[in-house]
Amino acid sequence: MQEVLFYLLTARNGFYVDGTLGGGGHAEAILEQLNLSGNLIGIDLDGDALEAASKRLGRFRGHTIFVKDNFKNIKSVLSQNDVESVQGVLLDLGVSSYQIDEPTKGFSFQMDEVLDMRMNRHQPVDARHIVNHYDEQALVDILWAYGEEKHSRRIAKAIMQRRVEQPIETTGQFAALIEQTVGGRFLNKTLARVFQAIRIEVNNEMENLRQALCDCIEVLYPGGRLVVISYHSLEDRLVKYAFRAASAQSIPSGNKIIPDTPLTPVLKMLTRKPVTASEEEMEMNPRSRSAKLRAAEKL
Ligand SMILES: C[S@@+](CC[C@H](N)C(=O)[O-])C[C@H]1O[C@@H](n2cnc3c(N)ncnc32)[C@H](O)[C@@H]1O
Repeated sequence: MQEVLFYLLTARNGFYVDGTLGGGGHAEAILEQLNLSGNLIGIDLDGDALEAASKRLGRFRGHTIFVKDNFKNIKSVLSQNDVESVQGVLLDLGVSSYQIDEPTKGFSFQMDEVLDMRMNRHQPVDARHIVNHYDEQALVDILWAYGEEKHSRRIAKAIMQRRVEQPIETTGQFAALIEQTVGGRFLNKTLARVFQAIRIEVNNEMENLRQALCDCIEVLYPGGRLVVISYHSLEDRLVKYAFRAASAQSIPSGNKIIPDTPLTPVLKMLTRKPVTASEEEMEMNPRSRSAKLRAAEKL
């Protein structure tokens, strides 16, 4: 939290975007730092999160706008609200603790609920569809790429066999199938990886981030900041490469005779290496353990 405020805030009267409003914790801390001319737009795909956050942030009425949308549409969200540029954009990726703990959302293997995992309840594809309709190779690829799951082939094969007998409808059925396939040792870690992989696919999380990064940079005023917190190595890599590309001063020619092509950088990286949570924060909030924060400033 302290690091987010440190990197994000440059003007107390600024306009800020929290692209992943969630429970509104970061948004509240940002708003507390702003003066009476400061404003925040909070975006989330999840209508329930928006409702809860708008209640929590009720005391900032007049300085807040809540929008149910995908952060990849940041440019249209801003233009619909007559905002051209902003001082800061925060993306705190992934799912919220509320979404994991809420039994109707179907994210958790700790409960037995409908295998759903959609952040946006209006999108047609849910986890049941993926598990019951994707072909075997697609399932292997998802488990491997998004979960780094070494049993991806075995698990995909088991899914294919089971769903011929009976569709996999609940988190409990899915977790039991994984347990029968890979056994009890390190089961919770396997379940966490598999559920994470399916969730990333359901919500198209990598593609959303890839599409959003350029536009998030574009909407910043010079001196404005983009702060991204990721919880997955692939996400962190996307952020690292986007920041690197936007802050590059030249494209290397690859040989000594032809000179490098100079570029005009649009971004200055503020974090060479990702910032991680302090021991103290990890103790208080175990989810922060895997968080990696990167920040950059528009030139
Ligand atoms: C880790 S939580 C954010 C928690 C928030 N920073 C807080 O302080 O409470 C991530 C939130 O981002 C939302 N989200 C994930 N991907 C999104 C996207 N592409 N567009 C909009 N919201 C998204 C999720 O629904 C979830 O509520």
